[in-house]
Amino acid sequence: MGGSLAAQRAGVGPAAGAGVGPAQRRAAGVASNRAGNRLATAIVCKTISPAPARRQPTHAAKTHLTRAGHVGPCLVNALAISSMGLMPSRTRRVGQSGHLMCCCVGVEALMLSLQPSMPDATSTETSKPRLFQPARIGDLKIAHRVVLAPLTRFRANAAHVPLPHVVDYYVQRASVPGSLLITEATMIAPKAAGIPHMPGIWSEEQIQAWKDVASRVHAQGSFIFFQIGALGRAAIPDVLEAEGGFPYVGASAVQHPERPFPPHELTPAEIDEYKELFAVAASNAVHKAGFDGVELHSCNGSLPDQFLNDQVNNREDEYGGSVEGRCRFVLEVVEAMIKAVGQKKTALRVSPWNTDNYMHFPDPIPTFTHLTTQLKTRFPDLAYLHVIEARVSGTEDAIPAIGASNAFIRDLWSPKPFLTAGGYTRDSAIKTAEENGDLVVFGRAYIANPDLPYRLERGVPLTIGNREFYYVMGSTDPTGYTDYESVARD
Ligand SMILES: Cc1cc2nc3c(=O)[nH]c(=O)nc-3n(C[C@H](O)[C@H](O)[C@H](O)COP(=O)(O)O)c2cc1C
Repeated sequence: MGGSLAAQRAGVGPAAGAGVGPAQRRAAGVASNRAGNRLATAIVCKTISPAPARRQPTHAAKTHLTRAGHVGPCLVNALAISSMGLMPSRTRRVGQSGHLMCCCVGVEALMLSLQPSMPDATSTETSKPRLFQPARIGDLKIAHRVVLAPLTRFRANAAHVPLPHVVDYYVQRASVPGSLLITEATMIAPKAAGIPHMPGIWSEEQIQAWKDVASRVHAQGSFIFFQIGALGRAAIPDVLEAEGGFPYVGASAVQHPERPFPPHELTPAEIDEYKELFAVAASNAVHKAGFDGVELHSCNGSLPDQFLNDQVNNREDEYGGSVEGRCRFVLEVVEAMIKAVGQKKTALRVSPWNTDNYMHFPDPIPTFTHLTTQLKTRFPDLAYLHVIEARVSGTEDAIPAIGASNAFIRDLWSPKPFLTAGGYTRDSAIKTAEENGDLVVFGRAYIANPDLPYRLERGVPLTIGNREFYYVMGSTDPTGYTDYESVARD
């Protein structure tokens, strides 16, 4: 099949775990994961590729220790921390904006800062912090403001159909009733994809698999938005070729430094086709698969983000050349999605300060001022605006350039629902929810803590995630995916 061929060409082996023992499965998973990390540069590009992992207790080993009752979770975390060291393995300055990227090997140093400063028992108090109080998104009444971030995990088969344990992954993270989840980036069409084992939402088989996810999350009393995306120049040309001879495209013919040649600039006719593909994908997600809404992936260097960016978009037609021109594609895609599913079920995710995928915006403020103002004026009932903070870039921590802040977007968008993501600790999440009423989106912490809202509310220590298992292409192995422990008891 095309997907397998693509995977072979891309150096990705068959699904890890088939017909081998646990140790081999783990080894295969890690090997596959390393290949996955290289390919994953496209959607959540790692500006720094992962270094070989130093030896550390694997997640599975930690789980075993905990389950066997030898040591409690805190000590297990401490074991992992002490054997890992706390310092980033490497740092380097990226881009003219002066972001300093910090890459931690294997286990997330960030998780350390997520440990609560002190336990509390807010759940039993009448006046809980606002983070644990309800919020409204469209017509949905969300029980608290801790949101699952969109997180690509590559647990789809060669036909881009989510594997059976994808359901378990989302159900686990929906365990606190009334939670809001956002799915991983899901491709709108084969021609918009270009990485093996990323899920799609164009075929009946994919829709049925996603329908199972949505209905099982709803059965938990929780809610789930569906993130849709297109890769543009972040795709891998060989994979597009292998999966159907699709053209390698972008907002403009500006080369991605990790790709062999520049993309072809989308023609006006192709732009119209893409808008239609986004609308169909939104409709599939909401009307056929039963999701509560759709979020446009316009961040971290994907196709819509390429249109917004003045370094990557050098078009001379109405889709470039000015702030208004560069915002046109995103606004028209949002409009197409709204026509398909309605304003209250449509949302947008942006990352103004991101340097991932070789993106760089010398001054994003005029563009995102125009975009936010237009969104608010044209689509006053939009479900939410979701913005990534400058202290992360893609999947990793970054030291933001001086003055890099999304406060101007929040101010323009206020008082409408605002989701903020990127490097939040328990304390900073409580603070921003308290001060601004934001919903706070957690990525890496939610990977390793399926009951994150429960833990944050009660000040329960957090499990540390293992980056080795973030991306394991086509794997059905639960290791580092669905085997993180939940401590929620009520
Ligand atoms: C493994 C992994 C996969 C990710 N995949 C996506 C994705 O599919 N779509 C997206 O918009 N962001 C993606 N991100 C970015 C996260 O949504 C989030 O913005 C980032 O992890 C920062 O939040 P955190 O500090 O809470 O982890 C990914 C991040 C990680 C770590």
